[in-house]
Amino acid sequence: MNVMKTDVVIIGSGLAGLMTAYYLCEKYNVALVTKTKLAHSNSILAQGGIAAAVAKEDHWKNHFQDTVVAGGYHNEKKATELLVKKGTTLIKKLVEIGVSFDRDEKNEFSLGMEGAHRVRRVLHAGGDATGKVMVESVIANVLSKINVIEDSTAYDLHVENGGCRGVYIKDLNENLCFIEADHVILATGGIGQLYKVTSNCKEATGDGITMAYRAGAAIADMEFIQFHPTLMMVGGNCLGLISEAVRGEGAKLVTEDGNYLMQGKHQLEDLAPRDIVAREIFKIRQKSETVYLDIKNIRNFKERFPSITNMCKHTGVLEKGLISVEPGAHFIMGGIKVNENGETTVKNLYAVGECANTGVHGANRLASNSLLEAVVFAEQLAKTILLARKQRSYDVKLNVKVPSSVLLNLPTIEQIQNVMDRYVGIIRNEKDLKRAITWFNQFKNIYEEQNHLHLSIHEKTICNMLIVGNLIANASLKRNESRGGHYRIDFPKTNDQRWVGFKNVSVNGVLF
Ligand code: SIN
Repeated sequence: MNVMKTDVVIIGSGLAGLMTAYYLCEKYNVALVTKTKLAHSNSILAQGGIAAAVAKEDHWKNHFQDTVVAGGYHNEKKATELLVKKGTTLIKKLVEIGVSFDRDEKNEFSLGMEGAHRVRRVLHAGGDATGKVMVESVIANVLSKINVIEDSTAYDLHVENGGCRGVYIKDLNENLCFIEADHVILATGGIGQLYKVTSNCKEATGDGITMAYRAGAAIADMEFIQFHPTLMMVGGNCLGLISEAVRGEGAKLVTEDGNYLMQGKHQLEDLAPRDIVAREIFKIRQKSETVYLDIKNIRNFKERFPSITNMCKHTGVLEKGLISVEPGAHFIMGGIKVNENGETTVKNLYAVGECANTGVHGANRLASNSLLEAVVFAEQLAKTILLARKQRSYDVKLNVKVPSSVLLNLPTIEQIQNVMDRYVGIIRNEKDLKRAITWFNQFKNIYEEQNHLHLSIHEKTICNMLIVGNLIANASLKRNESRGGHYRIDFPKTNDQRWVGFKNVSVNGVLF
């Protein structure tokens, strides 16, 4: 096995990983490992923007309030305060490093509106290509200063003497390599691929959460999954996300007979928190009826939303002004439990971005707070590492036997998605969740094996998805209430007495 040594290894090339690299690359040797290509991530797909209280009439306290209301009051107060307070200063930093946010005729930031925000607060770039513009700017700043390792799948972490000492990776030819590092950072993004309809890139299979879990780190809040209400559907296939910013500019959800879907359902109607809008659409879709996003009254649609316009090309929907939509898996609020400095419960192991559970999103993330989280907590984490003394005082003792491959009886990705959609989806109940857990448990002896290094990349991905699916199902079964992205039809009310602020935390298979 090849062994490589570096100060810091970052796994994942979304905005959180890249920003962390940006802050660290002047002082440390940084290796950044990515499963496919540097520019493939959920961040690059982010359309809406980045929320920050930059408007004169706005204040971080308003942003805080909107964040915790959307989050079902499950948010970690201190971390959330940090998120919204730092947002405004870090926007300046992003401009400095070359991110050109869209501006109005007075050269002020042009601010978009999105669900559950009470004011226009969402900065955007390239119209609806905010993630792409941000990611490309950061890549331009770091590319020559870090060691980028593309097409390499991270398998497992090496923990020795109570601390994380590195990560095993495999290239496309399944050659195994160990990257020894003083600081190991997981920035692997979300889990959207566990569901059939998702806004996420194909790499989002919960790899970082699985690695941290297998290394003994605490995992929290896994029951909270955000389903974005408006994914564009054509002939039963999902073409991609229709940003909430489209509803922010006046688009309305309508039923087949032309009624406004959200009228009378919530005071914010189409801009209600995502879980509420997603459930309303889901209920109509269960009756096999179609829900449309009516965009006819947005006059400058093509200029304001060029990426969506491009996505809709050749479908004819823009000409009709009606886009067929349904909810899809978008974001996991839970993940690897970290403190405000990005530290997990395992020494030298850190997590940042969607795979981390900072607690800032509570039970349901406020729109456009994810790019903000990436930027704010990348800075926090980098500061922690910059302050840390050099730690490596001895060479890691690798004693890895790679078992020979055997034929494994693993399910397909489609089977996992079917189970998640049917039993652990937008509307859940005890019976279905138990069915899902029973199904996951039949593969337990495979995916809980100590050594995964003999698995092919595909088998490893399946094992990761099984572990994450089981974590989500177990946490969902335990929480006997509904809150944010977790809705139980058998417990439809929010139960503050029992559950507010209570975290389902899982360590090594034990759920607390
Ligand atoms: C969107 O543009 O609707 C998605 C942005 C987000 O999830 O914050």
